[in-house]
Amino acid sequence: MSGSKLNIAVFVGGTSPEREVSKSSGKAIYRAINSLGYKCVLIDPAYGTFQPETDEEFFSSKDFGEITNENLIKTVKSELLDNIDLVFLALHGKCGEDGIIQSLLELKGVKYTGSGVLSSTIAMDKDFSKIIFQKNNVNTPSWFTIDKKFNRDEVVRIINSKFGYPVIIKPNDQGSTIGLSIVKKDEGIFKSIETAFQYSDLTMIEEYIPGREMTVAILEDKPLPVLEIIPKDGFYNYESKYTEGMSEYIVPAEIPNDVFKNLQEQAVKAFRSLRCKIYGRVDFRLNEDNIPYCLEVNTLPGMTSTSLVPKMAKIIGTSFEELIDKIIRYSVDGKK
Ligand SMILES: Nc1ncnc2c1ncn2[C@@H]1O[C@H](COP(=O)(O)OP(=O)(O)O)[C@@H](O)[C@H]1O
Ligand SMILES: [Mg+2]
Repeated sequence: MSGSKLNIAVFVGGTSPEREVSKSSGKAIYRAINSLGYKCVLIDPAYGTFQPETDEEFFSSKDFGEITNENLIKTVKSELLDNIDLVFLALHGKCGEDGIIQSLLELKGVKYTGSGVLSSTIAMDKDFSKIIFQKNNVNTPSWFTIDKKFNRDEVVRIINSKFGYPVIIKPNDQGSTIGLSIVKKDEGIFKSIETAFQYSDLTMIEEYIPGREMTVAILEDKPLPVLEIIPKDGFYNYESKYTEGMSEYIVPAEIPNDVFKNLQEQAVKAFRSLRCKIYGRVDFRLNEDNIPYCLEVNTLPGMTSTSLVPKMAKIIGTSFEELIDKIIRYSVDGKK
């Protein structure tokens, strides 16, 4: 494999709470791009024009400079992006995955990997995503959202009338299971709501779906094999997501053929319904009757070599480098 003369900048780090996760994705992506033979530089948009000099400084968990959202604008405006043909977004979370950096890059006229502005924004908003899923016959757990002026009695009343306990309480626009709780009865609910509000102005209260955890990657509009995640402590949280050995992954998932196909179909529908492009990952719960419930679409899913999307690609014979190469090629050729 040899890369063309494309100049690629990997955006890594960023300003969201998922900054550290982004560094892991960025490191793997940067290595792959180099081994593919493309010209490649690292840029941490959180730092503005004052960028680290060494790769180690980019990936270090110690901050190198001041981290501000204003630096995102400074970075994109600056000459750092002169002569760059494509930005590979290794960012996750707010101001990385949610359309904000995408819109700055659109204004600058620089191509970037993954979905466009609108899809990125909607996919980051779980409430809006679910409204669109329902409209497009993608099954999703029942839910409602509250803002900070919520009425306590009203919340308890809606839970009891809509779905009962347990419930999932999560920030409407956060990732990596940050700020998410499972609540088994009335007490504890307001503490969990408070936690969720630390990360978002809107909190989602969602019906708990007992069962299994499934995810499906989409590459250029086509589904990869379904992957099942089995968290060792029974709950797929931040720790079990990012600690080696805390989860078991089975790909292709050992489920009946029709259930497998249905999950893939639902994933493609969910992805298309938000008009996502290039690649992404759709998260599901699969209940005891094998009915899939779509939770969300991740437009910039984790991309370390052991992340879920690369695992699914590997099963169909696509190496990590080939996957990165495909994302690069589709993003350079494709229209948002
Ligand atoms: N309604 C639900 N029922 C059961 N488990 C859930 C539900 N919502 C979330 N979870 C659990 O929390 C994890 C993270 O939720 P998700 O909605 O995908 O948000 P994010 O990954 O953006 O933090 C899921 O992978 C699942 O394990
Ligand atoms: Mg998820």
